[in-house]
Amino acid sequence: MKKFGLIGYPLTHSFSKKYFTEKFQKEGFEDHEYEAFPLPNLNEFPEILKANPDLCGLNVTVPHKIGIMYYMDKIDPAAKEIDAVNCIKIINHHPVEDFFSGELSSLKLRLEGHNTDAYGFEMSLKPLLQKYHTKALILGNGGAARAVSYVLNKLDINFKIVSRRAIRKELNYTQLNNDILKERLLIINTTPVGTFPNLEACPDIPYEFLTSKHLLYDLVYNPEETEFLRRGREKGAITKNGLQMLHLQAERSWEIWNS
Ligand SMILES: NC(=O)c1ccc[n+]([C@@H]2O[C@H](COP(=O)([O-])OP(=O)(O)OC[C@H]3O[C@@H](n4cnc5c(N)ncnc54)[C@H](OP(=O)(O)O)[C@@H]3O)[C@@H](O)[C@H]2O)c1
Repeated sequence: MKKFGLIGYPLTHSFSKKYFTEKFQKEGFEDHEYEAFPLPNLNEFPEILKANPDLCGLNVTVPHKIGIMYYMDKIDPAAKEIDAVNCIKIINHHPVEDFFSGELSSLKLRLEGHNTDAYGFEMSLKPLLQKYHTKALILGNGGAARAVSYVLNKLDINFKIVSRRAIRKELNYTQLNNDILKERLLIINTTPVGTFPNLEACPDIPYEFLTSKHLLYDLVYNPEETEFLRRGREKGAITKNGLQMLHLQAERSWEIWNS
């Protein structure tokens, strides 16, 4: 049996469990299973590993993407730079290998941390970029904003973070005006605002200044078209929701677990 899973809390609606269970069925991996492990307290993480010796890989979601790094034996350089891990590869050493390597420790697991959110975001954003998308606004300053910032840095796109608690370099929502929106044609929502069932909510930006040159990317994927995207579309902007990013980060996790 090869077991995979998701840790986070609360895990009310797990996209990953549904996605991987369907994938295993479709691709005929009868000896594979994916389980959601609701984990209120990270201290209980080692217990999950002990109780599930068949675990080969885990996804990590809120609120543990940062805290989980403490348990890793190795962290991929990109995940280190982002400072968040959402995918763990679990390598199970065979006792015979430990014998020959002279390893005396009873711990047989090696945990490698990766960040696949950044990959999912980069691959889904790139095809939409025009040469005038050189400056961006990132709405929200949480875990997902870190992965987005990493990708924008990599793509050489200058960005400003917009936060309700702006200090120093960030902007406040009240500071946004026509001059700023005219210059920053890529706007990425990394807040949960507008997620089902709060369908009428949207980030507090001056939508009247949006144009057909704007590209609005919402990490939210439920509903398919958030109020943020709907208002952008009405002004002629190109819009993109977070669904492809979600699928890409899951597929990248699968690649890492099987590499
Ligand atoms: N599509 C994907 O693959 C994917 C991947 C990762 C995350 N996501 C989605 O991205 C969203 C954010 O995830 P996260 O892990 O970054 O969450 P998070 O760490 O809780 O951060 C969200 C940030 O949004 C801002 N925010 C929260 N509530 C707000 C409100 N009522 N009004 C305005 N701003 C608010 C906050 O920034 P300030 O306090 O600085 O304003 C907060 O730091 C979630 O909806 C998640 O599902 C999607």
